[in-house]
Amino acid sequence: MLKTVKKLNKGLKGEITIPADKSISHRAVMFSSIAKGECFVRNFSSGADCHSTLNLFKQLGVDIQFLDKKTLKIKSEGKLLPVITPLPNPPLRGGNECDCGNSGTTMRLVSGILAGQNFDSVLVGDESLSKRPMKRIIEPLTLMGADITSVDGHAPLTIRGRKLHGIDYISKLASAQVKSCILLAGLNAEGKTTFEEPYISRDHTERLFKYLEADIKTEGTKVTITPSQMIAKDIDVVGDISSAAFFIVAGLIVKDSNFVIKNVGINPTRSGILDVVERMGGGVNILNKRLVSGEPCADIRVQYNDSLKGCVIEGEDIPRLIDELPVIAVLASQAEGDTIVKNAEDLRNKESDRIKCLVAELTKIGVNIEETQDGFIVHGGRGKCAGKCIDKSPANNTTAQPLESYHDHRLAMSFYIAGLVCGNEIAINGFEWTKISFPEFESLINQLL
Ligand code: S3P
Repeated sequence: MLKTVKKLNKGLKGEITIPADKSISHRAVMFSSIAKGECFVRNFSSGADCHSTLNLFKQLGVDIQFLDKKTLKIKSEGKLLPVITPLPNPPLRGGNECDCGNSGTTMRLVSGILAGQNFDSVLVGDESLSKRPMKRIIEPLTLMGADITSVDGHAPLTIRGRKLHGIDYISKLASAQVKSCILLAGLNAEGKTTFEEPYISRDHTERLFKYLEADIKTEGTKVTITPSQMIAKDIDVVGDISSAAFFIVAGLIVKDSNFVIKNVGINPTRSGILDVVERMGGGVNILNKRLVSGEPCADIRVQYNDSLKGCVIEGEDIPRLIDELPVIAVLASQAEGDTIVKNAEDLRNKESDRIKCLVAELTKIGVNIEETQDGFIVHGGRGKCAGKCIDKSPANNTTAQPLESYHDHRLAMSFYIAGLVCGNEIAINGFEWTKISFPEFESLINQLL
């Protein structure tokens, strides 16, 4: 689907409520499916990725019912899944595969659950997911005794369930997906498992494990899980800061904007974008802080700021804002001076190569952005060339070449935000991919007009 976006000639105003966090929605379904008892999950994400997780656990025989569009009732016997239809042994590709769709979180976390079950399974994904690296989870799971066959480190993953044993693992990557996979496997293994990472990655798994009474201990960047049975409890999912990020950037760069984004998760392992905004000159106020099912949450007021400055984003910043980097590039294009992003090489392994694709597409609309091996540099321009730096195309014309989304939801939405300040109308190809995490995106923009 080709979407055209025009420059806004007035500020964004009013109030929106940001929909459910994708990372927490996945975990709410997964963990409730292996916790003992019955619970409600409220404010579940309507994104396609979270529905891949939901359908997978239904397929595995967990009793999951929708009470309304966003409320689930989940009943589980505990950490060994029922599997109504046992998969053939050896597992065959075909009718018995579990489909993870486009979702890396589904495939990587569910592998940690399935590796220790007493049945076999095959995890498949769409074209993009089948290209994403899985060795990062296969290696540590294999050290725990798992039996996983892949296609040269990629899906489909054939998992022959067996009893696992605990390990001490030092990860080179700060990845919440790898960490969560190993913690899930450790929950049902023999003996303790420790996982250590170079910087702290998002800690939703640790928080939800604690809330559901798993035997888990955290010490800086090290987590220890002792095999235990989680107890089902109701979970309210807070709003997604990664979705709010598009609105935070829109509010900062669209002239005269001033609005409130309600119910945003501000977990410190996810809120790197708020620190970056502060470093660039501010424009965001955090209001009404509270704790919801173990997760910090707040309302955010965002106001247009015409004196943003470039900054350096690196090291431990990166896992705290990895998914926001595409829209931060758009923000940086509207700041004075350079914004340098380093140590973000894993951005190349997301739904697209987000370094290469971001640079290629933003260049088409006149952003001065350079690709580096582990990130990018945006040479900002506001002040000197306000209103021009995101505009190369002839006046009163749609940008000749549409921007390609590469089937990547976060690129599609980042380009849309760029379009709001671009001199000419832009077109984005593959805008329907926003359904992966944030189907409500455009209707919320319209709510602020
Ligand atoms: C996620 C972790 C991050 C993030 C992804 C969701 C999670 O991936 O990019 O969108 O829910 O654990 P990595 O763990 O690969 O960094």
